[in-house]
Amino acid sequence: MPIVGKDAELTDIPTIELNNGVVMPQLGFGVFQVPDAETTAAVSTALRAGYRSIDTAAAYRNEKGVGAALAEADLNRDDVFVTTKLWNSHQGYDETLRALDHSLGALGLEYVDLYLIHWPTPARDRYLDTWRAFEKIVSDGRSRAIGVSNFQPAHLRRLMDNSSVVPAVNQIELHPFLVQTELRAFHAEHGIATEAWSPLAQGGELLDHPTVAEIAAKHGRTAAQVILRWHLQLGNIVIPKSVTPSRITENISLFDFELAPAEVDALTALDKGHRTGPDPDQFNQA
Ligand SMILES: NC(=O)c1ccc[n+]([C@@H]2O[C@H](COP(=O)([O-])OP(=O)(O)OC[C@H]3O[C@@H](n4cnc5c(N)ncnc54)[C@H](OP(=O)(O)O)[C@@H]3O)[C@@H](O)[C@H]2O)c1
Repeated sequence: MPIVGKDAELTDIPTIELNNGVVMPQLGFGVFQVPDAETTAAVSTALRAGYRSIDTAAAYRNEKGVGAALAEADLNRDDVFVTTKLWNSHQGYDETLRALDHSLGALGLEYVDLYLIHWPTPARDRYLDTWRAFEKIVSDGRSRAIGVSNFQPAHLRRLMDNSSVVPAVNQIELHPFLVQTELRAFHAEHGIATEAWSPLAQGGELLDHPTVAEIAAKHGRTAAQVILRWHLQLGNIVIPKSVTPSRITENISLFDFELAPAEVDALTALDKGHRTGPDPDQFNQA
């Protein structure tokens, strides 16, 4: 798959150095809710457009489709950053090691770049044992970095009190309607990178908000581009999802404009603590 012309310029994506020295693209491509059969086409389109980071999960049931796109792409393994996640019902030391075997098999990879505990599932209370398995996984080189997702400060504190390995990343719901001020400050204090899921709040009401529209009009950009730019300027890692080729390109065309500090602040002020997904303190689904 040749990557030429304009696309090649788009590969110039900023990176974030994680707390173990691994370097991660600040912008990636999410595949939540993409059926496995459609995933290969979407990921191939994203790779052609210049994305070099893909975010999947065992629970998305499309690791195979991601793996097929990676196999088809004419890219070196170390040119692509692959994240997957351990599902809730596989938490526990031995179960985690087996679950990663399964994910690597589906992806057709020897290692992933980032492995995340998908949810803390506090009622299950197995994330400490799970994290011990994650420590083994990173020391065995089966993931280059390890982290968590949907962890609240209390879960992070407990994890860090029981381990010398600080999560490299916490992937959390984050967008202008849910700014996550407390968690982002906690992450900054402890060297944990903040990764935003549903960075566009799943594309609904946020994209139609008049403040977003006004800033977009001023820059001659789309609402989605303005929101993604807000994330990048806050220092968040973002992984917008789209199966629409024009949007896949739109969402990576972010590196030739900048929001003014007052515009960043105006978007931050839209915070209303609104979740599109579950509350991590209550979510224990198997
Ligand atoms: N760790 C977790 O618990 C967790 C939870 C949720 C998501 N995630 C990750 O985060 C990724 C992104 O989150 P998400 O998929 O929930 O939501 P999102 O990226 O905020 O929004 C995706 C939605 O917005 C639409 N969209 C995308 N680009 C657009 C554009 N430029 N203009 C207008 N609409 C646009 C998409 O439509 P089309 O696809 O139809 O174009 C889709 O309906 C996921 O794919 C997944 O990798 C993680």
